[in-house]
Amino acid sequence: MRRERPGDAPCVRAVVAAAFAGDDGAEPIEVGLLDRLRDDGGWLPAFSLVAGEVVGEVVGHVVATRGHVGEQPALGVGPVAVPPDHQRRGVGSALMHGVLAAAEAREESLVALLGEPAFYGRFGFRPAAEHGVEAPDAAWGRFFQVRALAGDPPRGRFRYAAPFVEL
Ligand SMILES: CC(C)(COP(=O)(O)OP(=O)(O)OC[C@H]1O[C@@H](n2cnc3c(N)ncnc32)[C@H](O)[C@@H]1OP(=O)(O)O)[C@@H](O)C(=O)NCCC(=O)NCCS
Repeated sequence: MRRERPGDAPCVRAVVAAAFAGDDGAEPIEVGLLDRLRDDGGWLPAFSLVAGEVVGEVVGHVVATRGHVGEQPALGVGPVAVPPDHQRRGVGSALMHGVLAAAEAREESLVALLGEPAFYGRFGFRPAAEHGVEAPDAAWGRFFQVRALAGDPPRGRFRYAAPFVEL
């Protein structure tokens, strides 16, 4: 696992497309989201990580972008993507551990995401309400989760980078 490098973007795009592909053959919304995040001020190159089995092959990707809790900076994770033929071999878990380690090393205070608690709970994510953090949409309920890092994590409403809001 390593930081994304210049030239990885097309492979990363293909990985996200494969991971989120539906039955209708349409381009998954996560692909367009990733494109727009790259052009947004919330894109943080240090938090775009790829996993590869062999040199040149990308088999997973995770990104965290700049969000806020109230006016305090925080991170929003997603998309996380592992293509079906590489799933259930630990790649997604490695990427999650990697992005959390990077966040801790860079003294980020809090990481938020929308996802399945059965998967993300193992990385220390808890329902956001337990940390005094409100989801951008109250209907997300327990699927909006937070992992608090060092320091005194901020409390309040979470706001993702703008491309998420435009979804
Ligand atoms: C979610 C995802 C990133 C996991 O990647 P992975 O490489 O398969 O993950 P790992 O091999 O590290 O872990 C697999 C474990 O996660 C569990 N898991 C994976 N997706 C899950 C889900 N949606 N709900 C519950 N558990 C899930 C598996 O059951 C497995 O559990 P086990 O270890 O107890 O058997 C991958 O399945 C994926 O890209 N899915 C499609 C896109 C997606 O939904 N991304 C997440 C939302 S942004």
